[in-house]
Amino acid sequence: MKARYLRNIEVSEVGMGCMAFSHGYGQIPDEDYSISAIRNAYAHGCTFFDTAEVYSPGLSGIGHNERIVGKALEDVRENVVIATKLFVDGFDVMREGSVYKAVKRHLTGSLERLRTDYVDLYYLHRVSGVSLEKVAKAMGQLIDEGLIRGWGLSQVDVSTIQRAHEITPLSAVQNIYSMVERDAEKGVIPYCLEHNIGFVPFSPIASGLLSGKITPDTQFESYDDVRNWVPQLSRRNIEGNMPIVEMLKKFAEEKTATPAQISLAWMLHKYPNVVPIPGSKNKQRIIENLNSSLVELTDEEFRSLEKSLNSYPVYEHRGLSR
Ligand SMILES: NC(=O)c1ccc[n+]([C@@H]2O[C@H](COP(=O)([O-])OP(=O)(O)OC[C@H]3O[C@@H](n4cnc5c(N)ncnc54)[C@H](OP(=O)(O)O)[C@@H]3O)[C@@H](O)[C@H]2O)c1
Repeated sequence: MKARYLRNIEVSEVGMGCMAFSHGYGQIPDEDYSISAIRNAYAHGCTFFDTAEVYSPGLSGIGHNERIVGKALEDVRENVVIATKLFVDGFDVMREGSVYKAVKRHLTGSLERLRTDYVDLYYLHRVSGVSLEKVAKAMGQLIDEGLIRGWGLSQVDVSTIQRAHEITPLSAVQNIYSMVERDAEKGVIPYCLEHNIGFVPFSPIASGLLSGKITPDTQFESYDDVRNWVPQLSRRNIEGNMPIVEMLKKFAEEKTATPAQISLAWMLHKYPNVVPIPGSKNKQRIIENLNSSLVELTDEEFRSLEKSLNSYPVYEHRGLSR
């Protein structure tokens, strides 16, 4: 697969979001299936894997997902880029004595679960009560110690990125971004482009909406399924968003691709620093999504997609609030 850079970190141009093997989209597969799905993705050319310490069933524990990712990639560790994320709060800092020690304590747990002695990309999952400047400094120290290769922020605006980047340059920003979540185009992506920061869209298929497989009658699962609160996926809003989905389906058919692939190829065409991490717990769909890297849009096709997208209202969005 073609490569892209998150600052100095080389990754396949489409990565893999591993969250759903542990949390967020209903029932999780058994561990053997998840491990083999991750290994299949690697065999298919994917070298960028996204996890977080909090991805566990019902968000009720720590590390379920990191353990799976660690086990799956242990034998090919040097060939892949592993991104994980931490939450750090005032209690952690009080307990450990400093922001640096608190961040390092989280990292030590992740390293153990991921079966490695370094993390390639370490994100602050959300900026919370702890001083961002101190976190940025701590990340710089961890880079100097060789424990992480780069760091990033998630769900942040331009001024937050700026404050952090001035202290320790960021490798990547991971915000929500898709054909129906385009806030990042207004400031965050241009800022990242200008400052050589990678942009990693999460939920790039809009939690499945842009695959064309969701209809107003789709029933989501009752336990640990984010689709029950993603605003675009309420029955009424799915109906409202159907013209976008229908347009995408038609475009995909003409291009002999799938709607999910077109939604990813669109952002790859649009920005050279974007590396999406679609999530799926299904082996075939994981490969389908990775193959979006093979779908080349001409400039004319891209312009026609943009024109269509700009002509439809989007029914609700998540923005930066979650
Ligand atoms: N930084 C953050 O705060 C944050 C927040 C959310 C997610 N993330 C990361 O971003 C990754 C991706 O986000 P996401 O999983 O929320 O959203 P997503 O990739 O937009 O969509 C995932 C959903 O779409 C379905 N899907 C995926 N590919 C499909 C295809 N080709 N055809 C039909 N359905 C398809 C999946 O179902 P199946 O499983 O049935 O295929 C799943 O229900 C996560 O794994 C996680 O690593 C980060």
